[in-house]
Amino acid sequence: MKSSETPNPKAERLIDVAIRRSFIIPSAEIYGSPAGFYDYGPVGCAIKHRLENLWRSEMLQKEGFHEIETTCILPEAVFKASGHAENFSDPVVSCKKCNQRFRADHLLAESPGFIASGAKAEGMQPQELADAIRKYKVACPNDLGELTDVTRFNMMFKTAIGAGEERVAYCRPETAQGIFLDFARIVRNYGSRLPIGIGQVGRSFRNEISPRQGIVRVREFSQMELEYFFNPKYQTHPKFESVKGEKLAFELEDGTVSECTLAETVERGIVPNQIMAYFLWKQERLYIAAGVPRDKFRFRKIPKNDTPHYSRGNIDLVVDTSYGWIETVGTAYRTDYDLSSHAKASGTDLSVFVEEEKKKVVPHVVEPSMGVERMFWCVLEHCFREKSPEKDWEWFDFPPSIAPYHAWVFPLMRKDGMEEKAREVEALLRESGLIVYCQESGSIGKRYARADEIGVPYCITVDYDTMKDDTVTLRFRNDGKQARLKIGELAGKIAALAKEGKVNADFA
Ligand code: GLY
Repeated sequence: MKSSETPNPKAERLIDVAIRRSFIIPSAEIYGSPAGFYDYGPVGCAIKHRLENLWRSEMLQKEGFHEIETTCILPEAVFKASGHAENFSDPVVSCKKCNQRFRADHLLAESPGFIASGAKAEGMQPQELADAIRKYKVACPNDLGELTDVTRFNMMFKTAIGAGEERVAYCRPETAQGIFLDFARIVRNYGSRLPIGIGQVGRSFRNEISPRQGIVRVREFSQMELEYFFNPKYQTHPKFESVKGEKLAFELEDGTVSECTLAETVERGIVPNQIMAYFLWKQERLYIAAGVPRDKFRFRKIPKNDTPHYSRGNIDLVVDTSYGWIETVGTAYRTDYDLSSHAKASGTDLSVFVEEEKKKVVPHVVEPSMGVERMFWCVLEHCFREKSPEKDWEWFDFPPSIAPYHAWVFPLMRKDGMEEKAREVEALLRESGLIVYCQESGSIGKRYARADEIGVPYCITVDYDTMKDDTVTLRFRNDGKQARLKIGELAGKIAALAKEGKVNADFA
């Protein structure tokens, strides 16, 4: 943890659990782990892929959108056109004594005097930050040294392409740019009928001044981004009618929270259009499916002076965590900003011909952008369960759809053919597409505990009866109860239970 970070025992404990149970591993650990980089261990990697697949299924496949994968390194010209070269920066101050650099707005936001004032540091300009730092006597958190003036620091990682005539390039700070760059090609190949949705899952890079909060603010991370291209003449969504009565919890610019129907959010101008409202509703469904309870998140309208340079309106999905309410999804109305900027800078026509209007239109874009690590963290926080009279160990209550394994398989003992039989069951389940793992060592109680500790929803035990009648026990994670099933019906039953999200034995 950085010395400037406020101690947070609850979060630190969960990070410790996550590291011990192979969810995450500090990157380059044997060389001291640079701040802001984490690897995924085998358990975390499995959960991450399942979260990404949930997003893929809900946000792309069920909507009939395209998925692409674009490169992480892009030439400077891209970011000059996109505005990132000029605008993608954070306010920074240095300590005059120890020279450590800090995010100016974060230091200010953590100072008691400023907190008491009720003001917000987000969106403040460098001079306003510098004035407030002086007013509230904010000093270096390491050695109380005086702070310098506030300057801006561009967060993109710079690199060069080629060995000889090097061209300046950057690691992308968002996956979105690759989608704008490929837009014309996809339209040529697939037809230009709007709307068109194109998404991707991939790594992005931001050289954060003070990475912190575990995996929440890191320097390399994954995004799941959808760019929805539409004709700006029609700010409507074809599925809006069927969801317009659904309610979302909204935190407005004055800080009040109210339940609004999707229709109200559009009528009251809280969101710019039906399209944005529809995708907020999709995010709500996705977060609930991933195991974050509805009362633990809400939508927040971002004040105009705090929206990114390309946006004409931003709504964040914020989740209540031990770090406070953190932004985990940002939905932006990017208008034609990116396509028009790239068209101008590259000299390429990025408009599409609209048949009904007999004219070319530069599509507008609504972009729901999710951070995988932030979602992952929120899922860990909200699925973590303490020891209880029923379970003498801490465990994770993951929905089966995002659990690291569908099931673990155990031989009761490693003798009398049970080990071989368990391997057969494991192979059979794997063949049917389930993610399973065979655990042979330790007492059966310990193995159940180990499975619970990483949130495996079902455990299958091969015992002496199995050797006689080909039945096994199926144990449910949440209530620890068991049912007896034929091996032949196991795969179908587990798949069905997982699909329905059943984690108690009440089905039997
Ligand atoms: N594409 C939006 C973001 O990365 O913040």
